[in-house]
Order: sequence, then C-alpha cells, then structure tokens
Amino acid sequence: SDPTLLILPGDGIGPEVMAEVRKVIEWTGANGGPRFDVQEDLAGGCAYDAHGTPLTDGTMARALAADAVLLGAVGGPRYDALDFSLKPERALLRLRKEMDLFANLRPAQCFDALKDFSSLKPELVSGLDMMIVRELTSGVYFGEPRGVTGEGDGRVGINTHRYAAPEIARVARAAFDLARRRQGRVCSMEKSNVMEAGILWREVVEEVHRDGYEDVELSHMLADAGGMQIVRAPKQFDVILTDNLFGDMLSDVAAMLTGSLGMLPSASLGAPRENDRPRALYEPVHGSAPDIAGQGKANPIACILSFAMALRYSFDAGEAATRIERAVEAVLADGVRTGDLMQAEGGRPATTAQMGDAIVGKLSGT
Ligand code: NAI
Ligand code: MG
Repeated sequence: SDPTLLILPGDGIGPEVMAEVRKVIEWTGANGGPRFDVQEDLAGGCAYDAHGTPLTDGTMARALAADAVLLGAVGGPRYDALDFSLKPERALLRLRKEMDLFANLRPAQCFDALKDFSSLKPELVSGLDMMIVRELTSGVYFGEPRGVTGEGDGRVGINTHRYAAPEIARVARAAFDLARRRQGRVCSMEKSNVMEAGILWREVVEEVHRDGYEDVELSHMLADAGGMQIVRAPKQFDVILTDNLFGDMLSDVAAMLTGSLGMLPSASLGAPRENDRPRALYEPVHGSAPDIAGQGKANPIACILSFAMALRYSFDAGEAATRIERAVEAVLADGVRTGDLMQAEGGRPATTAQMGDAIVGKLSGT
C-alpha cells in the first residue's frame, strides 16, 4: 500500500501554502513519483478551536504512525492570551518530543534568480547548496540544573550545557548519512577550545566517523570561526554538523544567505524505524504570518520545498525532489514573484495560487 503522509496545515498562511503543496503532491503521484495515502488533521490554534487542545492524542498517534508528517505553521494573535499549555506552539513541541526528532535539517540553497536578494555579494552565494544539521533535543536549552536563584546582586542565572555521548553519536550518524546523499563532506562545529562538552562532541564525532563512515570527508571548525566562514565563503560547506545552541545561531545566519523566509524549508528527523524510515517532520521555517494571512500573498515555496525534502529524505525519491526544485528555479527565473520577493529584479507579482500553478506548470512542461 502507499506510504502515509500526514498533512497538518495549521493556522494563518499554513492552509494557504498547503493548498499549493497539494497540487504538487498530486502532480508527483500522477507522473511517476511516489504516490501517497494523504491524511489531513488539525494542529495548533485550529485544533484548540475544534477540540480545546492544540494537538489531540488521536492526531499524535497518527503522526507517530505516519511515514512522514508535513506541517504548515501554527499560531496567531488570537491565541496569545491562552495558557502556555494550550498555546498552538505546544503542538509542535509535543510532536518533536514524542516523535523524538533529534536532528534538525536546514538547507541554505541559493536559487540563481534570487542571488541579488542575498545579504551577501551574489558571486558568494550563486550555486550555494549547504545543509546545517542541528542537534535539537539536548544541550544547553535542556540541561539541568537550570534556573535563576538568589536575590538582588546575588542573583545567578544558570543553564547547563550537557551532552551525553549517545546524543552526539546519533545526530552525527544522521549528518554522515545525509552527506552520503550529497557531496560527501561533513564539517563539525563546537567550541572544544573552551568547553568540555565541545571536547566530547569532537571525540564522539570522530569515533562515529571511524566506525563506518570513513568514506565521508570529516573536518572540524570552532563554531565562532565557522560562523565567520559561513558568511565569508559559504560555498566551501556541504553538511555542517553542530549542537543545539550553535545550530540555532548558525542556521539563522545561513538563512540570510538566501533571502526571504518564504523560501526556506526544514526537516526534523528521529531514529530509523524497522522499515528503515526515520520518524520525520517537514515544515517551512516561517510561521503563520498573521499580517498577510487570508490575502493570497503568502509564498508557498518554503512549504513546497519542504515536501521535496520529504521525497528525498523519507521516500528515497531524490529524482522527484530535484524536479520540483528545478521547477521552482525555472519559475523564479521567469520572474514570478510573491510579495516577499518583489524587491528582486525583473519581477511580476503573483498570488499564492498563481505561484503554485506556475510551479505545477513548469513540472508539466519538463
Ligand atoms: P512569521 O514567520 O509568521 O512572519 C515573519 C514575517 O515574514 C512576516 O512579515 C510575514 O508576513 C513574513 N512571512 C513569513 N512567511 C512568509 C511567506 N511564506 N510568504 C511571504 N511572507 C512571509 O513570524 P512571526 O510574525 O514572528 O510569527 C507569527 C506567528 O507564527 C506567531 O504566532 C508565532 O508564534 C508563529 N510561528 C510559528 C512557527 C511554526 O509554526 N513553526 C515558527 C515561527 C513562528
Ligand atoms: Mg532561532
């Protein structure tokens, strides 16, 4: 039977961009790409409206059983006053936690038509294709002890940067596996010059490398120097492997290499299951964009590229993924632009649906 793809459109522009992804999913299934048993469910504010909770146990169970989950975005000002446990964002936190998604993948890929849009000089980013793999479930955001103690001048804020060897090993394996499907190079970033957790990080990454990944080229960089190199010469990188804190910063820096938030996909992967497929959640980096929701202004490309990542990393359909990426590239080269891209040169304004249709049109033409 067909693999299951659980779609959670969510709130704000989530359902708008997901409607365009649906067109791409249908096209792919009808044209030699994988076919899916597509299921749809509520997550975020819309689930709260319907059920009084941002993610029901039933939806959680479907997500755990699905071969992959594709999420639009959650949240919005209507829900800002809710108790923390009922907030739409809790849906995402619960999905990440229960699916045990420890590897966050953020590609920084430059589409040539948008190279003037980057914060860097066009020649530095033209042809750029790198991927940051960030550890997502441990490190200083979770380590104990934590808290603020004392009073007045005696107050102390405490967080603990803690990594256990298996936590490093599993995200390292994810990065090496990924590099094999790309250019075969991993650069690991930590601060082993000043942090014990960094010394262990480097040690364990080298152990994992020796133990079955010697065909992948491994290098190391201190995370501060790495940040500098990402901005100075980003094309030197294939896969960057790093921890939760450094990955948070480095992936936001890398995002600015390619321009609009409306272009950026992401994936979060867990451990491989019996069927060899890791648990996986694919989603655009952007949020629910309440300022433009319901107006047909949202750029659906980030979500469409997230589906392409699902094809490549969950369903071994790299060829179908590449076709989608080429169609996106071609549409951008034609000058089709949602509002967020209008400052790029030679653009013609398009609505969300017109952008989706143009991409499907290119797919059909190739
Ligand atoms: P946002 O990403 O929703 O919007 C930031 C800016 O980028 C806005 O001006 C928006 O119009 C623009 N933008 C975002 N996506 C776009 C797209 N596809 N096309 C064109 N323009 C786009 O971040 P913001 O405003 O901080 O948060 C809004 C809501 O989304 C909040 O409730 C927040 O909690 C939630 N959020 C949800 C995320 C998720 O579901 N993963 C991630 C980030 C925020
Ligand atoms: Mg961040």
